[in-house]
Amino acid sequence: MKSSPELTADLDRAAARLKEGGVVAFPTETVYGLGAIATNVDAVNAVFRLKGRPSDNPLIVHIPDSSWLKLVAKDIPDVAFSLFSAFSPGPLTLVLKKQASVPEIVTAGLDTVAVRIPDHEVARKLIERTGKPLVAPSANISGKPSPTTAAHVAHDFSGQDLVIVDGGAAKVGVESTVLDLTVEPPVILRPGIITADDIAAKTGISVRSDAVSSDLEVSLTPKSPGQKYRHYAPSASVILVPEGRSIDQVVSTLAVDDLKSIGVFSDEETLARVETTGLSAFTYGEKPAATKAAKALYAAFRYFDDLPVHYILVPLFPERGAAIAYNDRVRRAAEKARRVLFVCTGNTCRSPMAEALFNHLAPKGWRGASAGIYAQAGQMATAHAIEVMRRRDIEIAGHRARPVTWDLLRQQTLIVPLTKDHAAALLAFDPSLEEKILPLSTLAPDGLDIGDPYGQTIERYEQTAEAIEAAVSALLLRIEQGAFDNRRDEATSADG
Ligand code: TXA
Ligand code: MG
Repeated sequence: MKSSPELTADLDRAAARLKEGGVVAFPTETVYGLGAIATNVDAVNAVFRLKGRPSDNPLIVHIPDSSWLKLVAKDIPDVAFSLFSAFSPGPLTLVLKKQASVPEIVTAGLDTVAVRIPDHEVARKLIERTGKPLVAPSANISGKPSPTTAAHVAHDFSGQDLVIVDGGAAKVGVESTVLDLTVEPPVILRPGIITADDIAAKTGISVRSDAVSSDLEVSLTPKSPGQKYRHYAPSASVILVPEGRSIDQVVSTLAVDDLKSIGVFSDEETLARVETTGLSAFTYGEKPAATKAAKALYAAFRYFDDLPVHYILVPLFPERGAAIAYNDRVRRAAEKARRVLFVCTGNTCRSPMAEALFNHLAPKGWRGASAGIYAQAGQMATAHAIEVMRRRDIEIAGHRARPVTWDLLRQQTLIVPLTKDHAAALLAFDPSLEEKILPLSTLAPDGLDIGDPYGQTIERYEQTAEAIEAAVSALLLRIEQGAFDNRRDEATSADG
């Protein structure tokens, strides 16, 4: 477990690893996948564990061509073959009746299986050399955006023994379209760059796309298990910028102290017209274009996650073609949430653990984040903090420290200092924060402050993690009981 991810271009080595029952990250045209042989229950288990993925969210099985379909699916309708011949290899996943040989763990107990043929030489060759269908969820740890480069994967799994096949940057950048063929008419469960219009135009098959993103429908019929989970959202608030709205206008409504704390995802032409100076920018291309924005979106989110930005301005595009999937991901990232900020000193041990424990169990609509009163921006969590979280199957190697700022505090529904001293320091900084501050010790069963384990033994870290766990559980219980339901959601949005 101590070695680090190994980047390789050697397919034989990666295939050998898979055959031994190992896990290998590999490129596809959409995003990188975390692969394992679909019929090897232990290997599939390892994929769930590595990602920290809930076991009731099924995986997509990847095959190199449609002659393999019968290995994983049964009662395959003709439309499946028409769709694959029109769009595969490509970013289209079909949900079909499952073959008995596909283990339950892959499909999370469902009697259906999701299958796709990735449009990436490396992916298809790897499957062929392994000789078996591969499961491959996106190769990010749960809670991070899907990875579009090998470096993103290495970042999320730093310190883990994982082979990563580097196949360059993913050309699509958003996950495949998931189309359920077990219902009539077929329905798009997750939008991707292949749209209902594309399907109708190329095959004459008409599919519904309206079931997507309807929370009510998802909770009543868990047809698309992935849609019920808290989707990735950056720790900063995402502000949607509709077409025709200027970035300057949106910035002025935010009224922040420090313009560097505003991230802007845009194209060069649009940015050149922005008069506000000092913003943190990430450009995806020369001119506005939804396909290019989709390709760069997750890299931009990762870039901004490592900067001390509190807002990220993201453009919306007219709802057609690739913009449908792009807008979907962007809207999900912008979903309003009640925010909880855990605050300690350096933001490298206690508060990152509290954040991770909170997010691991947080109900939909709530998000945890963390910061330190004396944090040095960009520092990683301490090795012991990472280790004690791994014991709980929670990965915090990707955490980067950030300092407490006025703009950050203002965005929060609740501010949870780890000790009474941290609470006092925040109150000295701004007495009006009083109504939002809830020290973790007031939630701890023993009422004691959670002391700093920094520089101490792993046992001490373990005790600290247990104390935080107990207090965070108490906080979650109060949230579930509705204790904070009357609190205002502080996030803002430019399109109301
Ligand atoms: O582009 C992609 O599809 C990438 C690359 C690596 O192939 N993979 C990917 O996998 O996005 P993942 O695990 O991150 O997302 C799979 C989605 C989830 O929303 C899951 O709920 C849904 O597919 N899914 C899997 N099996 C299903 C089934 N039998 N019925 C309905 N939805 C299913
Ligand atoms: Mg995913």
